[in-house]
Amino acid sequence: MCGIVGVIGRGEAAPRLLEGLKRLEYRGYDSAGIATLVDGGIERRRAEGKLVNLEKALAEWSLDGDIGIGHTRWATHGVPNEANAHPHATHRVALVHNGIIENYRELAAELKAAGCVFASETDTEIVAHLITRNLEEGMGPREAVAAALKRLEGAFALGIVFAGEHELMIGARRGSPLAVGFGDDEMFLGSDAMALAPMTNRIAYLKEGDYVVVTRKGASFYDHDDNAVEREIKQSAISGAMIGKGNHRHFMLKEIFEQPAVIGDTLHSYLTPATGEIVLPPMPFDVAALPKITIIACGTSFYAAMVAKYWFEQVARVSVEVDVASEFRYREAPMPEGGLGIFISQSGETADTLAALHYCREQKQHIVAIVNVPESSIARESDVVLQTLAGPEIGVASTKAFTCQLATLACMVISFARARGAIDEAEEDRLAFALAHVPAMAAQVLNHDEAIRDLAHAIFEKRDVLYLGRGTGYPLALEGALKLKEISYIHAEGYASGEMKHGPIALIDEEVPVIVIAPTDRWFDKTVSNMREVMARGGKVIFLSDVTGVDAVGEDAFAAIELPSVDPFVAPLLYAIPVQLLAYHVAVLKGTDVDQPRNLAKSVTVE
Ligand code: F6R
Repeated sequence: MCGIVGVIGRGEAAPRLLEGLKRLEYRGYDSAGIATLVDGGIERRRAEGKLVNLEKALAEWSLDGDIGIGHTRWATHGVPNEANAHPHATHRVALVHNGIIENYRELAAELKAAGCVFASETDTEIVAHLITRNLEEGMGPREAVAAALKRLEGAFALGIVFAGEHELMIGARRGSPLAVGFGDDEMFLGSDAMALAPMTNRIAYLKEGDYVVVTRKGASFYDHDDNAVEREIKQSAISGAMIGKGNHRHFMLKEIFEQPAVIGDTLHSYLTPATGEIVLPPMPFDVAALPKITIIACGTSFYAAMVAKYWFEQVARVSVEVDVASEFRYREAPMPEGGLGIFISQSGETADTLAALHYCREQKQHIVAIVNVPESSIARESDVVLQTLAGPEIGVASTKAFTCQLATLACMVISFARARGAIDEAEEDRLAFALAHVPAMAAQVLNHDEAIRDLAHAIFEKRDVLYLGRGTGYPLALEGALKLKEISYIHAEGYASGEMKHGPIALIDEEVPVIVIAPTDRWFDKTVSNMREVMARGGKVIFLSDVTGVDAVGEDAFAAIELPSVDPFVAPLLYAIPVQLLAYHVAVLKGTDVDQPRNLAKSVTVE
């Protein structure tokens, strides 16, 4: 979390820093700030809250200078106020930081004992003081930073400018991503390529432990041991246009509506629709001999993992364990040598997921990543990368990335099932063709937008909402509840519907809407029985099913949404859409900040 950007430009730095920060605001919006060099001296503007407050501050009191750094914050150490907003500065340096300095207490004690006075409660400020002390001891900027980095424990990406040094900016990376952008006689730093898209698409990524010395003319990279190293400059595919809202009121709605296209793009990179042939990149292990698969992820990506567990077990007949990364990483799970770890992450930067990957690597697992950002840390550390082609996802609540993860996992399941001899050719064709039809079916589901918007009126004033499902409908119930709570702040829970009578049914009364996810699959009758138990206790059921399901029981529900009839294998990709739309419309009615819900950030690069 936190976004950082740096510019050594040919004109005013402040407007470009703001432009970059706008594209990073999804990473945190507790405060924002920029620092530039004016006549050699460090000048800052900072503001609590969203970037728009910083923009206002700059409109009142502009900031000159053609070199500068900027930051958008997701608070970890220290409340979100102006004093804790980055950049943090001394009279010698100003810096922006994404991550956590874990040993900041010891370092702060040492620096305070040496006479340093701190102006904030952040862990970041100690880095500014450490570098300053090194400079005062006579080191040059590069040496001062390199020596300071060696004292730091934790995860960070840093952008640093120095008083009196109009030609110099230093960046460093350990655990948090950092990119260098190459322009014509101007250079940039950014947390990701998206931040730099308006300025350049020629990008080089720092590797773990690297730092980089950036001047107007180029960049010199150094590894953890201070050796000069080369880092490849790549052409980023992200364009400024991909990160606009289009005609939509919110990024989230735009991203929900993009799903037919991006699911199609993702599928087409693995599946030839005309023939149903699925080709994945070569796996550096024998799929047929895999002893076990472990799938690790967080949040919405974890719910994609849960869906995949049902698929892999039923279709590919392989044993699968799933866990949330924050639990898995410390669980010390024994793992069979030669097993497969699959890591699912939209951002590819989630700290817990990356740490879990490291654990699996130590346990001699093969590593496959399913990520939306191919240059991300998780992608770089994996044996095989299956990229989801969702495009940039700006809305903090994940929507299109989820369905693209499912599309990728479904291709993987079919391919693994074939390699393991678990399905015959006819079955393989049936599943692949069902998958190939998903984009068209998803477009049909979006036609229910208005009906779902009307339904949102029955929910937005409620205190609690339940989501029920069985089989792959269960992770969808969890995902529906997560979407609703994170953007509307209504308390919502997802349950495996068979679990209701073991406790949660006590919550049911006329005031609790219950969303039932019930495609006509092998669990349908059981789900309906559970639904009737809810209705018998006054629960208001909103029933999501297909024509068969709605014809059979829809009339008894408070409301029913009829989705296209599809092979149950692909149902999760379609049933994701109405729960996303419902959460969206409820949040709009409640007037919450849909794209930037409170307390959240898109890329969770701290533990
Ligand atoms: C919820 C949401 C989060 C993310 C989670 C993992 O809408 O977006 O739960 O899914 O933080 O993020 P990634 O997939 O980037 O690892």
